[in-house]
Amino acid sequence: MANSKFSLSGQCVVITGGLGILGRHMALGFLDAGATVALIDMMDDTPARTREMFGEQAESGRIRGFAFRIGSEADNAGITEEIAGAMGPIHHLLNNAASKGPDLLRFMAGPDDMDAEVWNAVMDVNLSGAFFLSQAMAAHMREHGATASMTFVSSIYGSIAPNPSLYASSNYMGTQINTPPIYSASKGGVVSLSRYLAGYWGRNGIRVNTLTPGGVQSGQNDAFVSQYEARTPLGRMGRVEDLVGPAVFLASPAAGYITGTNLFVDGGFSCW
Ligand SMILES: NC(=O)c1ccc[n+]([C@@H]2O[C@H](COP(=O)([O-])OP(=O)(O)OC[C@H]3O[C@@H](n4cnc5c(N)ncnc54)[C@H](O)[C@@H]3O)[C@@H](O)[C@H]2O)c1
Repeated sequence: MANSKFSLSGQCVVITGGLGILGRHMALGFLDAGATVALIDMMDDTPARTREMFGEQAESGRIRGFAFRIGSEADNAGITEEIAGAMGPIHHLLNNAASKGPDLLRFMAGPDDMDAEVWNAVMDVNLSGAFFLSQAMAAHMREHGATASMTFVSSIYGSIAPNPSLYASSNYMGTQINTPPIYSASKGGVVSLSRYLAGYWGRNGIRVNTLTPGGVQSGQNDAFVSQYEARTPLGRMGRVEDLVGPAVFLASPAAGYITGTNLFVDGGFSCW
């Protein structure tokens, strides 16, 4: 791996929402590829949880947790400086964090019931916060990075509309599954923003791409899973591991001529 174009040896990767379902696996994938990892999450005990989750890798300093709440008003320059001070120049930012706002039930509301507090809270993390953190990191990358890149994590529902029939008899954490309009709007915004930044920061040697996962199996009830599988060419929901290789690839020298693209990792869900 060390000499391969897929190696991230010597590179520092920042991953946001790193304590979540996908984030922690992607962090492991980046470590396996040779990177050092700065794991950002909003939980106050992010440093301790990172040490607990990553054991030896954390003890050796290859991964460190940073408690930071992403948002448009956050101190994005401050966290960038803090990470670079602790871990050295930053080469890749994975904008992976996503918010469900202050209340899961209200987040799940459809377009007729969605309220402004939830809408603004989710937008402030998924789109605005990701943008302002990227802005601060791009300034740092321009100053320090020989090679640099960013990946924004979107969703199939940033590119296609959810089909309401998929959610009949569905259940997740005690509530009917729904893809709310704020989720699609914020994730669609991420696709456009990423393409825009690719066009703008290409001249600075910063590549910017989007990674679009399909639904990942993580405790949805059987009715939902079988309905989802029936609508997917590869016949199954995603697994967390499915996202790891593509995330590492987009950060690696192997993707050195790829910018402004949107890589779908969805078993073909969006192809028909
Ligand atoms: N899981 C899926 O099925 C799926 C499908 C498509 C896309 N995605 C996308 O993949 C990404 C990861 O999803 P996941 O399922 O791991 O989500 P998750 O909810 O398990 O994890 C999200 C993490 O982000 C953190 N977070 C939320 N708001 C934050 C903030 N303001 N500042 C810092 N951290 C914050 C949370 O604490 C959590 O650890 C998201 O962008 C999501 O939209 C997930």
